[in-house]
Amino acid sequence: MVLITYLAAMNKVNTICVCGAGTMGSGIAQIAAQSDFTTILFDINEDVLSKAKFAIETSLQKLQEKGKITQEQQIAFLKNISFTSKIIDCKADLIIEAIIEKQEAKVSLFNQLIQINSTNTIFATNTSSISINAIANACTNSTNIIGMHFFNPATIMKLVEIVKTNTTNNKIIETLMSVCKQMNKVAVVCKDSPGFIVNRVARHYYLEALTLVEKRFATYENIDTIMEASGFKMGPFKLMDLIGMDINFSVSNIVWNDLGKPERLKPSAIQQQKVEAGELGRKSGKGFYTY
Ligand SMILES: NC(=O)c1ccc[n+]([C@@H]2O[C@H](COP(=O)([O-])OP(=O)(O)OC[C@H]3O[C@@H](n4cnc5c(N)ncnc54)[C@H](O)[C@@H]3O)[C@@H](O)[C@H]2O)c1
Repeated sequence: MVLITYLAAMNKVNTICVCGAGTMGSGIAQIAAQSDFTTILFDINEDVLSKAKFAIETSLQKLQEKGKITQEQQIAFLKNISFTSKIIDCKADLIIEAIIEKQEAKVSLFNQLIQINSTNTIFATNTSSISINAIANACTNSTNIIGMHFFNPATIMKLVEIVKTNTTNNKIIETLMSVCKQMNKVAVVCKDSPGFIVNRVARHYYLEALTLVEKRFATYENIDTIMEASGFKMGPFKLMDLIGMDINFSVSNIVWNDLGKPERLKPSAIQQQKVEAGELGRKSGKGFYTY
């Protein structure tokens, strides 16, 4: 009887807390609110929180003007979200962490959240590349830690990679599959390996393009034009600007390191220079292009 109650409790997600209100967190919170979850969006930076609130309000307003949602829905979706810079407010059935791509920061955040949440709370990380087992093993309780990797922009991209640790139980996977279904996402379960699936396959899209520019065989504008004309939604340089140079460079480094530093996956010096110059892409106003 106790076991049945426990399993039933694991199944139902009503409240989602998204930690980090940057590029990814803001979009994930919006899609959670649009999918009728009670949503908490947390960031330590008040400025980022205000920007995220404005971006979500603007996006919902546009959807309403285009007739994709009704005015009642627009009001209801906004009501579903609360914004906070206080960690004590981060109590939920599901936490989705989308803070900086640094293992220590993610572990420290989860350890604080584990103390104030229930033992049934699921702690999902949106990391693009850090090992989920490494994060889980460094936390005070690894049982409910899992990867939940959304793609950018999170409001539009359908795919979510659900990344298992060595000890993830099936009930958690079922719960996240059902959350993804409610969000109208396509969820794919995968094992914890460097870059998971998409970031491993896509590494060459960025790195080969960067090599062509480094060796002066082509300009970045030309490469983007050619790739888009050949059917890709976005050329590699526009995509790096969208993702954020720091995040993309960090993913390249982690995948390269974790696979034993193969030459074919060596991170690009051009990208390193961009990160060092603060040219992070859209979020800083300049990357390969100016915004
Ligand atoms: N950018 C992408 O295209 C993309 C795609 C998929 C996954 N991801 C992953 O999502 C995560 C976030 O990436 P992003 O591009 O949104 O980063 P971002 O730099 O846009 O936002 C990160 C936010 O986290 C906040 N933050 C930092 N430490 C915090 C803490 N301890 N508590 C609460 N908030 C904190 C920062 O203030 C910032 O607003 C990373 O792990 C990244 O690898 C990024």
